[in-house]
Amino acid sequence: MEPHKKEIIKATVPALEAHGTTITTVFYQNMFKKHPELLNMFNQTNQTVGDQPKALAFTVLQAARHIDDLEAIVPAVIGIAHKHRALNVRPEHYPIVGENLLEGIKEVLGDAATPEILDAWEEYYGEIAQIFIDVENGMYQTADWDGFVPFEVVKKDQLSKDIVRYTVKSDEVEYDLRAGQYVTVKVDPSDYPYEALRHYSICSISTDEGLQFAVKKEGADDKAGVVSHHMHDDIQVGDTLELSAPAGDFLLNHEEEKYLFIAGGVGATPVMAMIEEAIAADKDSKFIYSVQNEEMHPFKDEMKAFGEQIDVKIKYSDESGYLTHEDFKGLEDRSVYICGSMHFMNAMIKVLHEVGFREADIHFEPFGPKMSVIGE
Ligand code: HEM
Repeated sequence: MEPHKKEIIKATVPALEAHGTTITTVFYQNMFKKHPELLNMFNQTNQTVGDQPKALAFTVLQAARHIDDLEAIVPAVIGIAHKHRALNVRPEHYPIVGENLLEGIKEVLGDAATPEILDAWEEYYGEIAQIFIDVENGMYQTADWDGFVPFEVVKKDQLSKDIVRYTVKSDEVEYDLRAGQYVTVKVDPSDYPYEALRHYSICSISTDEGLQFAVKKEGADDKAGVVSHHMHDDIQVGDTLELSAPAGDFLLNHEEEKYLFIAGGVGATPVMAMIEEAIAADKDSKFIYSVQNEEMHPFKDEMKAFGEQIDVKIKYSDESGYLTHEDFKGLEDRSVYICGSMHFMNAMIKVLHEVGFREADIHFEPFGPKMSVIGE
């Protein structure tokens, strides 16, 4: 890109910072008006609460800040590209996003969006899009299968008041699972106008019985969590679910020696698979789990079995409060893997920093768009 165009991009960062979320909100509204078929791909709950618009805006801003050093955004691109690959985002979708993003910039900035600014952003978006397309092409080539494949539900276990584990099987495909990966499930709830795609973490690396993932019932009623309510209430043993190939970059780093696993609520799901993998690799591991009470506590039997091999601490917040500095003191030499809600993640990361854990040793996976957490 020519130097004067880079200068234009840099000069627009403050305006984007001021209007970034508004631009992407306008962008989504325009794009769905012109391409309603994309409503089948995007999570309408995340749109409503504004997390996804925020995530995209933050990524675009990151890219603008790093225009002289685009390599710096590659780690963030990889996590997003896993999600895109799992959702079946294809190269031909990028110009649609580009065109509507540019219209969003134009609409929000008004007269301030000169032809030069729009021209520079069009070119720059093309460069960013190409990075995503290249990374995603590599992922499509190595994925266990292409697109969505039908799986039969062979088992459904109620693990706690609001968490169900599904075991599903397919004769069509073969796969190897890594702890921390998720599968993306396509469903078509009858009272919902679109297909819906949701990511669910696998809860075991064992495939003896099939592929296992857990689903939390979200929201008080099916208005707030239409897809999870459909899964819990309607999907039964013998039904078919369509799955895309396992994805995700929240994986155990086997070069690390000692692990500390921290989970809150349904965040136990990927962590259960990670502990399995860590025990199989004979790693020194500890597990600290926070959950509201016994009724909400999933994987009780599995956690008890882990307790025979590693140190497991379970804290019911109704009885003994949330996890605090005291729970982590003396464990600072461990690599940490955390999973839970956005609120839980942010609280844990803060406490761990204060206790003296090294930033580089803290790995985390929120349920929801990751970039909006980092961008707070
Ligand atoms: C998710 C950025 C292009 C479809 C995301 C997320 C980010 C992002 C940051 C959130 C990831 C997370 O959950 O952690 C971008 C950027 C793009 C781009 C910077 C362009 C350079 C596209 C295209 C499509 C697409 C072309 C397809 C039309 C989606 C969908 C999600 C997503 C469906 C999941 C959103 C949800 O439903 O929660 N993207 N994206 N993206 N992206 Fe993109």
